[in-house]
Amino acid sequence: MKYAHIVGWGSFRPDKILTNHDLARIVDTSDEWIYSRTGIRERRIASEKETTATLAFEAAARALQRADLHPSQVELIIVATSTPEYIFPSTACRVQDYLGATKAGAFDLSAACSGFVYALSMAAQSIQTGSVRNAIVIGAETMSRVMDWEDRGTCILFGDGAGAIVLKGSSVPGGVMASTLRSDGSGGDLLSLPAVYHNPMPVLGPEYLHQNGHRKNTVDMNGRQVFRFATQVIASSVEETVAKAGLTMDEVALIVPHQANVRIIESAAKRLKIPVERFYMNVDTMGNTSAASIPIALCDAVHDGRLRPDDNVVFVGFGGGLTWAASVVKWNVTPPEISLPRREWRRARYILARARSQIKKWRRKIIDRVLFSPAPHERMRDADRKE
Ligand code: COA
Repeated sequence: MKYAHIVGWGSFRPDKILTNHDLARIVDTSDEWIYSRTGIRERRIASEKETTATLAFEAAARALQRADLHPSQVELIIVATSTPEYIFPSTACRVQDYLGATKAGAFDLSAACSGFVYALSMAAQSIQTGSVRNAIVIGAETMSRVMDWEDRGTCILFGDGAGAIVLKGSSVPGGVMASTLRSDGSGGDLLSLPAVYHNPMPVLGPEYLHQNGHRKNTVDMNGRQVFRFATQVIASSVEETVAKAGLTMDEVALIVPHQANVRIIESAAKRLKIPVERFYMNVDTMGNTSAASIPIALCDAVHDGRLRPDDNVVFVGFGGGLTWAASVVKWNVTPPEISLPRREWRRARYILARARSQIKKWRRKIIDRVLFSPAPHERMRDADRKE
């Protein structure tokens, strides 16, 4: 089982569409400016009920469906995200619970917009070394929740969504053939999102806050420098990884890049001396969905018939950190046809998984009540009162 093949893929995009015209009513911008500088026309925005974990679950359920894999067979779940709802529990653990993937290890991976390629590489190595037989790799983001909606330099770029793939071990040569992961922390300030706890805590007192001010918890970016960095690293990492896989650029059928900006991709194509048509792009309708952009674009590329069995496809990501990464994948597994009743039965199982999760929560509460009645913190409070 030393090859890790992509055997399932799925994406989920929230219903709400925010167009450039809508944005022009929020900040001082225009459809013409945004489209000419970025290639973006619209992006999706998560509803109040949707979270990074629910988007990730929907994408993962679709990918499992396509792979015809039961959640209880899944052994590893990695969610690449910069917008988790919690530092812990991880988004991956929430997805594990929603899926009812009772035998899976689960963790989040933080590498900004390169996160999906990093996670793909980690999962592929886990399969190639025999540590697990399969894995779900998800990129999921609710970037709209970390935007400064008064900053026209950033809020026009990002959107929400999720994409997932299922990787499975096989003795058939192919699948993930080579990866390159890189980082340069000296450029961390060029694109950043401070964590909530990066803010001075109230314990430091009003004097401290007065002197140092509050830090924003929204995306901060030096657009021009990020642009320059991106065009350089796309070309270098694609060339390096294609060579590592023992291929030439002529043998690459399609490049699925992180969807940040059409001009960045055009300029990378020029550096690589290949036609821009070899790059798949859907940034016009999705905007930049950070770690989710590559798996969503992959799903669209498959849907549009851009990938055929035995094609070599390259994924390339770049972003905050600074980080960048590329993977070469041989696309050679045809997914099975799944009947409608079987699909419906799968959906029903997810409802059962949620019910089981609730029952587990109640059981913990009941055991807690029976064994520690009253609860330890209540006993301490009662003792304090008596004193
Ligand atoms: N609408 C209208 N005008 C805008 C604007 C907007 N949304 N955002 C910036 N401007 C203005 C600026 O204020 C500036 O005006 P000035 O010349 O009067 O000062 C002018 O447009 C040019 O600004 P600049 O920042 O130089 O624009 P740019 O051509 O570099 O385009 C980006 C800005 C953000 C589109 C571009 O730098 C970019 O795409 N960078 C990469 C960002 C990215 O992909 N990040 C994610 C990587 S994972």
